[in-house]
Amino acid sequence: MEKPTEEGRVRRGFNLRNLNRKYPWLKILVVILMVELLAGLMLPRLIENGMIRLEFLTEARMENEKKKMEEEKSAQQKEMEKERLKKERLTEEERLRKEEERLERERQQKLGREARMEELRKKTTGKKLVALSFDDGPNLETLRLLNILKEREIRTTFFVLGRNLERFPEVAKRALAEGHELQSHSVHHDDLSKMKVEGVLWDERRMNELFWQILGQKPTMLRPPYGAISQLMYQTMSIPLMLWSVDSEDWKFRNSEVVRAKVRASMFDGAVVLMHDIHPTSVDAVPGIIDDLIMGGYEIVTVSELAELRGVKSLEKGYAYGSFAP
Ligand code: NI
Repeated sequence: MEKPTEEGRVRRGFNLRNLNRKYPWLKILVVILMVELLAGLMLPRLIENGMIRLEFLTEARMENEKKKMEEEKSAQQKEMEKERLKKERLTEEERLRKEEERLERERQQKLGREARMEELRKKTTGKKLVALSFDDGPNLETLRLLNILKEREIRTTFFVLGRNLERFPEVAKRALAEGHELQSHSVHHDDLSKMKVEGVLWDERRMNELFWQILGQKPTMLRPPYGAISQLMYQTMSIPLMLWSVDSEDWKFRNSEVVRAKVRASMFDGAVVLMHDIHPTSVDAVPGIIDDLIMGGYEIVTVSELAELRGVKSLEKGYAYGSFAP
């Protein structure tokens, strides 16, 4: 057994009380350490759970979110700008493509027209001529008429209403593609002769727009609704007016045999025949009328062709025409 020494006693006497006495600040240190430890473990959890919102953290997060939002916004803006430029490029390309198509179509039309006129001049020398014209369409009856005309290889002139052009653009396009002539008969079939200058000009402008949009060309003549013409129309309209010289009165006699007989009775060389492709009875009358005309030695052409074949190079604005006798 070791002999206890003064030193040993002190060493063995090592206990909390002694420690406290010897190092009084140690207790405070331990408490601080424990608090630190607790805080270190607990704080992040508490903050995470949103139980403690430290102002500086919230601010930092808000700053962060703001930055992120701004980044997103600028990215979005960049994307939108890119999209806009792409669209603009496409629109420009589309515009150019359409312009090219239009020029090509015009070239083809001109070639087609010239070739057709050449052919007609040869074919019609010394022959009687007549133009059939159909008003107030296009509509679904027009399709049936187009079938008849196609089968008989006959071209006619359609004086269309703007409102029907809007409703049946495909019918109008088909008529044009099959070599028929399309001209204006006003937008709503209003009596233009009762209108003031604004109304007359509006109608002309609107018809130009619709023709341009749907057919890629402008009308070059107007058939005034009811055949009504005012002095103002002669003065303000930029295209000539086209009336008729044989009235089938098909709107009154809804009977194809009567209509056919009326046309046959009033026919003459250079006549422009007025009919309406909105009445089924009128369309029904067409095959018989064609038979009669061919039997009578007539060549059936469009109104413009009739004028040109009769030596009227261009129809003048400020005038109304109704027939082109030799
Ligand atoms: Ni009419």
